[in-house]
Formats: sequence, C-alpha cells, structure tokens
Amino acid sequence: MNPNKALWEKGDFTRIAESMRESGEALVKSLGITKGLKVLDLGCGDGTTAIPEAKAGADVLGVDIAGNLVEAGNRRAKELGLTNCRFQEGDASNLQDLKDHTFDLVISIFGAMFAPRPFDVAKEMVRVTRPGGRIVMGNWIPNDPTLVAQILKVSAAYSPPPPEGFVSPMTWGIENNVIERFAGARVPKEKISFARDTYTFNFPGKPSELVDAFRKYYGPTMNAFEAAEKNGRAADLQKELETLFTSQNKSSNKDATSIPATFLRVTVVAG
Ligand SMILES: C[S@@+](CC[C@H](N)C(=O)[O-])C[C@H]1O[C@@H](n2cnc3c(N)ncnc32)[C@H](O)[C@@H]1O
Repeated sequence: MNPNKALWEKGDFTRIAESMRESGEALVKSLGITKGLKVLDLGCGDGTTAIPEAKAGADVLGVDIAGNLVEAGNRRAKELGLTNCRFQEGDASNLQDLKDHTFDLVISIFGAMFAPRPFDVAKEMVRVTRPGGRIVMGNWIPNDPTLVAQILKVSAAYSPPPPEGFVSPMTWGIENNVIERFAGARVPKEKISFARDTYTFNFPGKPSELVDAFRKYYGPTMNAFEAAEKNGRAADLQKELETLFTSQNKSSNKDATSIPATFLRVTVVAG
C-alpha cells in the first residue's frame, strides 16, 4: 500500500474539514470564478473548496489520493445537486489520467503539499494548466507560530525520525523552495507571487474536543499518538496539544473554538 495514501485514508479528514468550511468559502470568493471556468482542485479532500467553486459556476474536477474522501466529495456534490463537480482518485505527483493544458485554474489548498516528490508535483500542476491559466496553492509555513505548524512541531517530538530522503511537506511554505520547484517546471520567478493569508478553524466545542477530533480522525496526529503510546507518552502529547489549542483559541464563548492559522498563498501564472 502507498504510505501517502494509507496516511490519509487512515482517519476521516471530513471531521476536521467541517471546521474549515467558512474559510474555504471565503478563499473561493477571492478567486474570481466565472461560469464554466475549468478548475482542477488537487488534494481536494471532501470538497471544502471544490464545492464552493462549483456553486460559483465552475466546471470542477476534484482529485485526491484518499478513496474515502473522494467518495465523501461525490456524495456531498450529489446531495447538493451539483452536476458540475466530480471527484476522482489520483496522485498529485503523477496526474497520468489528465491531459496537458486542460484547466484554467489548478487549486490546491493544503493538498499537493502533502504529496511526495515536490518537483514532480510542480511539473504536473504546470502541465495540466492551460497557457495563461493560474495555479493557486495554500501551504502551511514551517515554524510559524500559528496552529498547524505548531501541531506538526509538537507531534514531531513524539514521533520517530522520518525515513532518510523524506522531504517535509512544510517546505512548500518556504518561498525559495516554491520558486525552485516551479523553475524545474520552466516557470520563471516573475510569474510567481506570494501572500500571507489566514484560515480559521471554527469548531462547536471546546479546544480540548478539537484536539480529540485531531487524535481520532487526522492521519498525521493519529500516527503521532500511536508513536507516543508506544513510549507511554500519549498523555503528555494530549496535554501539550490541549495547551496549544487553548492558548490559540480566540472564541469569546468558552465552549466553542475559533483558531486562526497563517498560510502561504502562492499564485503562479502558467505558460
Ligand atoms: C489537509 S487535507 C486538505 C484537503 C482539502 N484541500 C481541504 O482544504 O479540506 C490534505 C489532502 O491532501 C490529500 N493528499 C495527500 N497526498 C496526496 C497526493 N499525493 N495526491 C493527491 N492528494 C493528496 C489528502 O488525501 C487530503 O485530502
């Protein structure tokens, strides 16, 4: 089994994505989607951005490595009666089923960053985008003080070291790495722009309950807890994450959670 696929099929990312829907909708509003725009949403999960893109009139294909999330996305699109949105399995490192220059917009919000072989990912995104089309990525930033980078940092301290040659997904949050990867796909740096943006996790429960959801349903956190349990340190990990989530919570209602997290927004003009 492909370990990248196994990681994301292990949990149920829908349970986390439900806290990210409002930010997904806001991000899509900023994209200037027009009717009939051909959009590829890569690493789409269950459609946090793909569904709003389709609601805005785009013709959307969502591609994700996790079969359970592709199924959930297709179910959501069907329930909403969206005939212009379909989801299929695929790997951002090798989009073999997709033809060159097919899409006006390729978007990947915290998706393609998790695929192995980042140079291949950049090449594939450029290959399937039509000349003059756009690629938009949302990438978490390493060592950023906000939530997601800190979850990964805390979790790493409880996990075995990654295998040799492993390239951290977080390197997609470093501008020079992004420039180098797209240079490998023949995109000059003048065609790449960067902005800091924010996603807010809104959850109808206490911060400790959101930690529980990560522990039960988010593959990378599930793995960190499994490693911590082997060393008898799961309670320490739980405590560290609860402290982190509580300290970042901006909700005025103590029984609810609202945590903003900063990411790097990358826009590339292809061709
Ligand atoms: C953090 S989730 C984000 C999902 C979605 N974009 C969202 O905003 O809700 C990461 C997603 O990337 C997908 N993914 C990871 N590796 C991938 C790969 N090699 N190719 C395609 N999708 C991948 C996972 O299955 C998961 O759905």
